[in-house]
Amino acid sequence: MIRIDEEKLIFHLSSPAFSYVLAVEDGRLLNLYWGAPLSCADLNYLLPSFTGGASFELRENRLPLELPSVGTGWYGEAALQAENGDGNCVTSPVYGGYKVLPHKPELPGLPQVHQEGAETLQIQLVDPLTQLEAVLSYTVIGDGLARSMQLVNHGGQSLCITHMASACATLYGHDLEVVHLRGAHARERHVVRTPLGQAAYRIESQRGASGHEENPFLAAVAPNAAEHSGDVWSMNLIYSGSFAASCQVTPGENTAMMIGLNPATTRWLLEPGETFCTPEAVLVYSERGLNGMSHIYHHIYRHCLCRSPWNDRQRPILINNWEATYFNFNEDKILDIARTAASLGIELFVLDDGWFGQRDDDHRSLGDWYVNARKLPHGLKGIAEKINALGLQFGLWFEPEMISPDSDLYRAHPDWCLHAPGRPRTEARHQLILDLTRPDVQNFIIQMLTETLSSAPISYVKWDMNRNMTEAFSAFLPANRQMETQHRYMLGLYHILEEVTTSFPEVLFESCSGGGGRFDAGMLYYMPQTWTSDDTDAIERLKIQYGTSFVYPAAAMGAHISASPNHQVGRHTSMQMRGDVALGGNFGFELDLSRLSAEDLVTAKSMVEKVKRLRHITQNGEFTRLISPFGDSNYAAWQFTHENQVLLCCYRKLNEPNPCAARVFLQGLRPEAAYIDEDGHAYSGSALMHAGLPMNFFPRQDFTSRVILFTRQSERKLPS
Ligand code: GLA
Repeated sequence: MIRIDEEKLIFHLSSPAFSYVLAVEDGRLLNLYWGAPLSCADLNYLLPSFTGGASFELRENRLPLELPSVGTGWYGEAALQAENGDGNCVTSPVYGGYKVLPHKPELPGLPQVHQEGAETLQIQLVDPLTQLEAVLSYTVIGDGLARSMQLVNHGGQSLCITHMASACATLYGHDLEVVHLRGAHARERHVVRTPLGQAAYRIESQRGASGHEENPFLAAVAPNAAEHSGDVWSMNLIYSGSFAASCQVTPGENTAMMIGLNPATTRWLLEPGETFCTPEAVLVYSERGLNGMSHIYHHIYRHCLCRSPWNDRQRPILINNWEATYFNFNEDKILDIARTAASLGIELFVLDDGWFGQRDDDHRSLGDWYVNARKLPHGLKGIAEKINALGLQFGLWFEPEMISPDSDLYRAHPDWCLHAPGRPRTEARHQLILDLTRPDVQNFIIQMLTETLSSAPISYVKWDMNRNMTEAFSAFLPANRQMETQHRYMLGLYHILEEVTTSFPEVLFESCSGGGGRFDAGMLYYMPQTWTSDDTDAIERLKIQYGTSFVYPAAAMGAHISASPNHQVGRHTSMQMRGDVALGGNFGFELDLSRLSAEDLVTAKSMVEKVKRLRHITQNGEFTRLISPFGDSNYAAWQFTHENQVLLCCYRKLNEPNPCAARVFLQGLRPEAAYIDEDGHAYSGSALMHAGLPMNFFPRQDFTSRVILFTRQSERKLPS
């Protein structure tokens, strides 16, 4: 909801979960408040408290500026900075008016959230000297706030934009803690929480991908905030490239929080009359702790982001041959695995890397997307039809953004990759990155995918991207636009994704980047699911899936059973444990099914049946974290709640001698109602929430799990 006091120029954006209040003072746009919902937003009485009595300090440096910029008294991080023709970068945007639109305008070429009937507040600020206009957009979506900025050069001089945040807000106080999702390949999105202190805290990616190392998400939390209680303020960028996010204690002892494109990797030339749009950020405040925040993000990303019809469809159980065969397969081997998969009730076969060109290892052939006739003598159509005849859908792996130096494509177009003239081209995994700023490269990828997807019954695509940018320069761009390469690459990628996913709406697309190196809302706009990590070890996955759930819904996470011992960490775990962890996401297998023991085959079959019985709950239910696997915790637990069903998933890492009876406490149940488990035991909602459920694990061994389904029977009363 948007309420405006026209006389005092107070703007109040709100939902039942939050209020966000802006005011104009002396031409400056101020963020007076962001927090729990307010009934009245006239907060101008707070203004003197920001500036205090200090006479040696500039007022500007203490104000809660909504668009801090450099050169007139603000000494913190800038949300906007433009260098003008005479080389100085003083930027001074002043309030110029507002509009309320009855809809959410399209952000051209960028992924974004959408909601029928959502109004948008646009506030305009203009630098009187350069005539650079910044239009700040605010749309309440669910219980979150979508924010972006559009820049228009109305002046007569070229401007170079050096800072262009998507959102900036001021939080009251200076004793907050920050939470973010840090990681590495095979160790993505581990939860980090640390006191902010009296300093600036910054996370970023300069990789040209959101990256394994940091996710484009930052939260500031009250020191007493926990999973189910306390104040949390957070920002998530709907973007898949380099980004920066920061929290900084201001001289006024408040906390300025910001997210957007990374100024270290992006500068943008704005000629007179030109417009630039930042990516969109989603801001979420929760007074119900981190789970409260996650529920809001999950709701927005489940219902207001991805447009694929698959977003709401039941996702197929898949078998992927990567860890089963790596590059070493032929049609017989693939059909062997597929036959076993069919007998287990698996629904989709995904043929991974190695089906094209001379791709017998990772040294060559990216770009040569024609079938390897030695491995697949009957072509893609042949193998796909044989797989279909077994009762499985057929899916295929691509890495469309890449080029191997040893490829026909590279020999024909050596200038099609990102590279800096006169410098060596740095290879990673023996490959280079195609220059997606180029329209000819974009068209090549669109045409290649269109032809391949039309050539055979392909129902699923795994879209991989296995290295980050180096020499991010483009032979297509002039010298004064080279620092636009990274962002123009993303715009090129989004253009390709838009074309391909809308041309093939029936294909289920899954994004991937060396596992979860590009797990972000930008990719989720085009593809409803992402491969969460190359690390499929059940114990490692507890942390990865727990951390990922801070922002992204379970329906977005790919999760597979792989072999034991695990290929990444060498750990032995039971198939039951691996399956119980994987059923928390889009379930599948990634191992040689044709080599499973008779006992494992029985368990695998029962896992498939279990997932078919439960996936409507895991895909559509509300996901709540109960016990964190981080720190010294020997346990992890989460629950899914869907209509009258509650699925409790508990995991124990190591067996304990003479164990104490640890309990798990469920959340959000109806206190009075009876909840019946599948053995017919009845518990009251209040007992499960407040007295808890003892977690007894069998068999007595390391790495065990329990998955319990409760059905609520409201009419049944338990004795008081
Ligand atoms: C990446 C992916 C894997 C697999 C390989 C193939 O590492 O994350 O799942 O597809 O590439 O090369």
